[in-house]
Amino acid sequence: MKHLLKLSDLTKEELLHVLDVADEAKRLHKEGRDPKLLEGKAVALLFAKNSTRTRTSLEVGIHQLGGLGTYLSAAELQTARGEPIKDTARVLGRYYDAIVCRTYKQGDLETLARYSGVPVISGMTDYAHPLQVLADLMTVRERLGSLDGVQAGFIGDGYNMANSLIVGCLTAGMRLTAACPRGYRPAADVLLLARRYGDRFRLVQDPEEAARGAQVLFTDVWVSMGMERETERRRRDFAGFTVDAARMALTAPGCLVQHPLPARRGEEITDEVLEAHADEIFDEAENRLHVEKAVLEILLAGK
Ligand code: CP
Repeated sequence: MKHLLKLSDLTKEELLHVLDVADEAKRLHKEGRDPKLLEGKAVALLFAKNSTRTRTSLEVGIHQLGGLGTYLSAAELQTARGEPIKDTARVLGRYYDAIVCRTYKQGDLETLARYSGVPVISGMTDYAHPLQVLADLMTVRERLGSLDGVQAGFIGDGYNMANSLIVGCLTAGMRLTAACPRGYRPAADVLLLARRYGDRFRLVQDPEEAARGAQVLFTDVWVSMGMERETERRRRDFAGFTVDAARMALTAPGCLVQHPLPARRGEEITDEVLEAHADEIFDEAENRLHVEKAVLEILLAGK
């Protein structure tokens, strides 16, 4: 693994290795024994969109490993005044050992990777959210003991989370039924990749089909960052796609719920379902920290 731009960059063995290293990072942290594997290393944290979890978990995780993480708001860099991304990449690559970037276009992330000369990690784009889905898979494996054959459901927008969940779940050996409204399908290349997995993946428009028999149910907001002008139309188009008590009644006994947060209670998930599953949802948020440390340890310290 040279970069982490999307989950299809990883083989099954590489993905499970990230989860194994993350489990170890979590155990060592709980024992107060964080290894200082990033001592002397600096990581640029370049954000063009808001963030609570991604930014703070990276800053704290890099500190725990003895490194330096520098938060860089894209709005304050010369990129905002037109400096090309490929020039920014070449400059940051001279100072930093790795770059984490949250931006809009996946192509901009790929330009950073092509020109910086250092590992580049996606902090989320409009296409993918790989660190989030690695944390989700870590959480599901912690709770269920294995990912092999686990039946997952996704109810929501066929956007970055759906794209990464489809690739991540199928690569890890799970089964997934994704319910997306008409006009909100996941990316075409992701659906093409999913065809390799035969009946382990189904794309449907009925959220009840995604919920039925699910051992873990994933959802995400209906209005992602940058889509605010579409709010009213999206609320109409996603009517009936709320993860609520009626949907949960269709799932397998003990079904887990995962939400990347922030949540819009009353839209994609009810307050009742979120609070009933807060333990695993906030474990999922915590596991961002451990997964990110694992990815950095693998890319920068040869774990
Ligand atoms: N889930 C997630 O990426 O959270 P932030 O937007 O707060 O980073």
